[in-house]
Amino acid sequence: MQTHWNSLPVDSPFGGNPDSDRAYLELLIEHSPVAIVILNSAHQAEQCNPTFERMFGYTRAEIVARNFDELIAAEETLNEARECTLSVLHGEKMHLVTRRRRKDGLWIDVDVHGIPLVIDGVLRGVYGLYIDITDRTRAESSLRQLSLELMHLQEKEKRRIARELHDATSQELALLSMSLGKLQRKLGSEDRELVELVDNIKELTRQCTQKIRSASYLLHPPLLQEAGLIPAISWLAEGFAERTGIRVNVRISSKLGRLAEIAELAIFRVVQESLSNVIRHSTNKIVDIRLSRRTGSIELSVTDRGRQHRGAAIADPVRSHGVGIAGMRERMQELGGHLQVRSVSGGMTVVASLPAGVRASA
Ligand SMILES: Nc1ncnc2c1ncn2[C@@H]1O[C@H](COP(=O)(O)OP(=O)(O)OP(=O)(O)O)[C@@H](O)[C@H]1O
Ligand SMILES: [Mg+2]
Repeated sequence: MQTHWNSLPVDSPFGGNPDSDRAYLELLIEHSPVAIVILNSAHQAEQCNPTFERMFGYTRAEIVARNFDELIAAEETLNEARECTLSVLHGEKMHLVTRRRRKDGLWIDVDVHGIPLVIDGVLRGVYGLYIDITDRTRAESSLRQLSLELMHLQEKEKRRIARELHDATSQELALLSMSLGKLQRKLGSEDRELVELVDNIKELTRQCTQKIRSASYLLHPPLLQEAGLIPAISWLAEGFAERTGIRVNVRISSKLGRLAEIAELAIFRVVQESLSNVIRHSTNKIVDIRLSRRTGSIELSVTDRGRQHRGAAIADPVRSHGVGIAGMRERMQELGGHLQVRSVSGGMTVVASLPAGVRASA
């Protein structure tokens, strides 16, 4: 049987006849759906399997004795590839997700493992495994794009409903309240039962007006656009504390200034979702909100704390099926920032960071 593996530096790992063992091993590699390449200790390619040839478009003869990094890690990933090579040549295993270039110039996304082949304490070469994940990363990127579009549509819809509630329902309730006032004056004070009834209706109307107002502001806070994050977050925190009895400490740096509208909305939504997570998932009674401008970035943290006894461990948000944290993360990433969620001493901290110069068009 013709194989490419006759220089593979292995002893009989399966016992028995060394020739059969070698043929067995060769078959495994030959038919592997994972692209495999063997490099020597100078990081030159020695062998590759057919999957490797198909994935990168090079024949085995074309890669042998070539500098492997220069071959498939052109300019933009060359330094990264060289660093990995050095680590593996120093005996470390490495795993990374990156991009590599095919012979025809096309880039593919790959999941790479580099394994040092050390035999009797001597580095004989490197075992490289490549899995083409281009389709997967494309699908993930379209999914991310789709969920961002959904989020933007949701924002648009929230804004429309907020405007409708404010401009139509609130105005109608104001008219109702005025009419009830007129009715009250006409009734005088003779029929006590009727006076009480109108009083009750007026009070209910007042409560409805307040609820509609809060609902409209939560859907789309006018304060945010008009006056920025400081009053909008303070208003949100006050309302939350009033409704839930949870103490909220807000500390926002006075140097924050105004940010692009899209960044202010994203930060507001992170605070909003974090507060709603506290009420849904935590028994803590204190929340700290910090927002500051650092060199080059805007940093937000929302921490809930105060649990006397540590209760059940917080579920791993990465494994949860909720969309709240994933949505916050996407909002930040869309603007070039990032989001971290940490559980610390019985509480949860959400840390969001955005580049200070996010532009409105980002
Ligand atoms: N403040 C918190 N304290 C404890 N656990 C939390 C806290 N915030 C989030 N979690 C955990 O992280 C998980 C993920 O949160 P996430 O906001 O993504 O989803 P969710 O709140 O469950 O659902 P939704 O999609 O409605 O937001 C929660 O289900 C919960 O287990
Ligand atoms: Mg949530």
